[in-house]
Amino acid sequence: MPENRVIIETEKITKIYHRGAEQVKAIDELSIAVREGDFLAIVGPSGSGKTTLLNLLGCLDNPGGGRLAVDGRKIHENGHGLSESQLTRIRRQLFGYIFQKFYLIPTLTVLENVLVPFTFFKKPRAEEDVISLLKKLGLENRTGHLPGELSGGEMQRVAIARALVNRPKVLLADEPTGNLDSERSREIGRVLRRLNEEEGLTILLVTHNLELAGLAKATITLRDGRIV
Ligand SMILES: Nc1ncnc2c1ncn2[C@@H]1O[C@H](COP(=O)(O)OP(=O)(O)OP(=O)(O)O)[C@@H](O)[C@H]1O
Ligand SMILES: [Mg+2]
Repeated sequence: MPENRVIIETEKITKIYHRGAEQVKAIDELSIAVREGDFLAIVGPSGSGKTTLLNLLGCLDNPGGGRLAVDGRKIHENGHGLSESQLTRIRRQLFGYIFQKFYLIPTLTVLENVLVPFTFFKKPRAEEDVISLLKKLGLENRTGHLPGELSGGEMQRVAIARALVNRPKVLLADEPTGNLDSERSREIGRVLRRLNEEEGLTILLVTHNLELAGLAKATITLRDGRIV
């Protein structure tokens, strides 16, 4: 079978944080290729660079050096990158993001929360499409609820729906089950797996939870900003 197209590619990207006089090499000349349809778990000890890597791959942060290409476009090369507005466009077109904290707006209903990205978009998706997305995530009976009336697992599924409402090619998830108990974590894991298998969604998942990582198709382990 031919391999799928590479959607994110890095060559020796580096990210150095400066803390006073001290330098922290959070990502150290890391090269990786992510293909469409991949479901990749990123694991490693605290401080190994997982969040930093995910933010670089998702164009939320600029590398200090190396090369980053996304969807065939050069994003960064040797200290030079796209403008902030070009990056913003790529983030909106290509990526959906979910985090450990769900970042739902407490005064908006489930449906309204999921529609929030359209505040920034010109082409609104038909309401029945959004309802069918909510159905797929088991939220069809929660559309009028406020976040405070939901379980943690439901809140994270709302956040997933919001991340998917613009049909991103890649879903980036940083510790999405960090605030959930093991049964809720499994439920989120099954949702991600299904989105990958049935919709071909490319997923990059940072997690400490090895059971969750086991649901991915492949795992990389980071240590000191390198793949080990
Ligand atoms: N804004 C920042 N300023 C300075 N140093 C930072 C900053 N963000 C991260 N670091 C440092 O970079 C390294 C990698 O951090 P990162 O957050 O990527 O780790 P992580 O693997 O996601 O850890 P965790 O599992 O605890 O979330 C750490 O040494 C961290 O202290
Ligand atoms: Mg982290």
